[in-house]
Amino acid sequence: MTYIETEKRLAAEAAAKLVEDGMTVGLGTGSTVAYLIPALVRRKLDISCVATSPASFDTARALGLKVKPFSGIDRLDIAIDGADQVDPDGWLIKGGGGAHTREKIVAGAAERYVVIVSSNKLVDTLKVPIPLELMAFGIDATCRQLGDVRLTEAPISPDGGILAGYFGPIGDPAELARRLSAIPGVVEHGLFPPEMVNDIFVGRRSHVSQRRVDG
Ligand code: 5RP
Repeated sequence: MTYIETEKRLAAEAAAKLVEDGMTVGLGTGSTVAYLIPALVRRKLDISCVATSPASFDTARALGLKVKPFSGIDRLDIAIDGADQVDPDGWLIKGGGGAHTREKIVAGAAERYVVIVSSNKLVDTLKVPIPLELMAFGIDATCRQLGDVRLTEAPISPDGGILAGYFGPIGDPAELARRLSAIPGVVEHGLFPPEMVNDIFVGRRSHVSQRRVDG
């Protein structure tokens, strides 16, 4: 196992310890969350989960977790997810796995949102591309307003969205997040603000550092 994989596993296992009996848990998507799911299973807790992607849903179910559709549940006790980039202020870029819309809904519903990353995800400054999910209807008009945007080869999202990347300037992430959200046809972008994040667990070779964000 490479040290990056070890760091992902360590961060995931540390976050799994936050989960308690009776909790409703949001499961993120990606290779770091792939370590979280078995770590939760090993804890043998009585928990209910919602998943942010068909892949996480299938893995969690196959390993014996109780996974429910995200309807009829209006809040989650905790959600745990990976990230593509984490900046010093706690801004995240997510969506490398094309699941950022569902991931943001789950993050927003969680009392506590915990990010698990290997140390290579820490960046001084956020870098493009920023993942986007776009409506198919009027997509050329949406892309014109976005500016420097490229559609990806990825299949459409489980919700029918077209996945793309924003390659323009970032500048102030809060301002860019507002601009992207204001463009009709943008279902969701992959900038997650620090206000959404409670803890960041970073795998560091042989240990895990925990940072409270509470932005
Ligand atoms: C998926 C995501 C993932 O959390 C992000 O891409 C990190 O993935 P990984 O843990 O595989 O590095 O946002 O949409």
